[in-house]
Amino acid sequence: MRKSGIVVIDYGSQYTQLIARRIREIGVYSVIYHYLNAVEKMREIDVKGIILSGGPSSVYEAGAPYLDKRILEIRVPILGICYGMQLLANELGGRVVKGEKREYGYCKVKRREKSEILDGVPDEFTVWMSHGDMVSEVANGYNVILSSENTPIAGFESREKKIYALQFHPEVVHTEHGMGILSNFVIGVCKCERNWSVEAYINELIENIKEETAGGGVLVAVSGGVDSTVLACLLYKAIGENMKAIFIDNGLLRKDESRKVMDRFRHLGIPVELVDASDEFLNNLKGVIEPEKKRKIIGDTFVKVFKRYAEGVSEVRYFAQGTLYPDVVESGASIGPSSVIKTHHNLVQEVRQMGYKVVEPFRELFKDEVRRIGRILNLPDDVIMQHPFPGPGLAVRIIGEVSKEKLDLIREADEIIIEEIKKANLYEELWQCFPVLLPIKTVGVMGDQRSYSYVIALRAIKSIDGMTANWAMIPYDVLNKISSRIVNEVKQINRVVYDITNKPPATIEWE
Ligand code: XMP
Repeated sequence: MRKSGIVVIDYGSQYTQLIARRIREIGVYSVIYHYLNAVEKMREIDVKGIILSGGPSSVYEAGAPYLDKRILEIRVPILGICYGMQLLANELGGRVVKGEKREYGYCKVKRREKSEILDGVPDEFTVWMSHGDMVSEVANGYNVILSSENTPIAGFESREKKIYALQFHPEVVHTEHGMGILSNFVIGVCKCERNWSVEAYINELIENIKEETAGGGVLVAVSGGVDSTVLACLLYKAIGENMKAIFIDNGLLRKDESRKVMDRFRHLGIPVELVDASDEFLNNLKGVIEPEKKRKIIGDTFVKVFKRYAEGVSEVRYFAQGTLYPDVVESGASIGPSSVIKTHHNLVQEVRQMGYKVVEPFRELFKDEVRRIGRILNLPDDVIMQHPFPGPGLAVRIIGEVSKEKLDLIREADEIIIEEIKKANLYEELWQCFPVLLPIKTVGVMGDQRSYSYVIALRAIKSIDGMTANWAMIPYDVLNKISSRIVNEVKQINRVVYDITNKPPATIEWE
């Protein structure tokens, strides 16, 4: 069935995906297209409205992303946000000027005119700004609807043409009434029906899986993480025993993780085969220090173990992967920094070369939507809300050579950290929180004894998508509890330090 909804055109903002997620939260389907081929892609859905995203460029820069004029001829309502607003002003005959300084952060805006997209919003409210350039003049026939002290034209519109523009970001939580404004646009102006829901989409997913795999066997590699767990549950619901799930224990998992994952699937009544390859991984990692080399070895070993297993199950022709929408969406900005800076192994390519067909049922979904599916499938919260864990596991959190002894140390510290963070009710507001084991020893004193032991660095961050992150300001008493428990309970660790670096410039994982 052809979907209908809102197209978000990406000009490179870090918030583009957030806009699409917010629209879906309103109950309306939304997709993201790259600004270069958006008009062609728009034939794939019944477009009810268009949102032009923000972006880091200036309309005056050579080679800056531009507005395809055909978009203005589609005759559906348009909302430009930040850079999207400047593109509209520039194209429609207004003026954009360089801001004297970049405006970044909270600011108050005042309503200048009544507007449909401000229905139910007070005359003055706080918004989140992040821009350099700004609109200094609107085109003929357009009205200024909002102003702030530094930005006299913080919003404009033409009610007749159904074109709207905002200098601030309604999609971020820092903007008051942001969801109200987006709803006014999507429901009030574009007249979309609230008919997108994950609940309704599950049945479509199950039918699609059945159709796509047509009675053939489907192999899925589960990791214990949210996406692959929900995927295995959904596949099992769709095709039952035609799904073959394996869990490869690479020996680089958290404390008791392998047992916990297997218990969980057993409890859910889903058959999963455990492949214990921990010795093979650890042997291959012996003597290896360089982070990229570690990553490559872990990726290659995983593929080798997987292939060995897959070759033994001849009836399987499909491979299911929990790829999410953010991984397939072609971004208007250059590809995110992490994917270029660190090698993530790509099992999908290898599997295709082995002659399998790849099915990716979650290609259209955001992580929070996959979590909702997990809830509907009755998965417990400790699975659904768990923090991301990198494929190379603890190997990228042990700086330098990985050994069994170091794995045991970091596992103990990890368990304490997670326990204390959960006790302090901070787990869900953090994107990740974990120990990093440093390859140095320092001197300490325990009782009257001198100690000479390892250092743990604690990394705790807040993030919306892992692409950028801020170190989390965890209360001192919680930090104190974590630190004293680690140095008291984990022998061979006598010092805990806190990583207070944002991403960028630092990455989240240390390797
Ligand atoms: P960085 O360290 O690049 O991490 O800032 C961004 C996010 O990605 C996770 N990460 C990985 N996830 N395989 C994964 O599945 C990997 O190789 C990998 N490396 C990093 C990291 O935990 C963070 O959430």
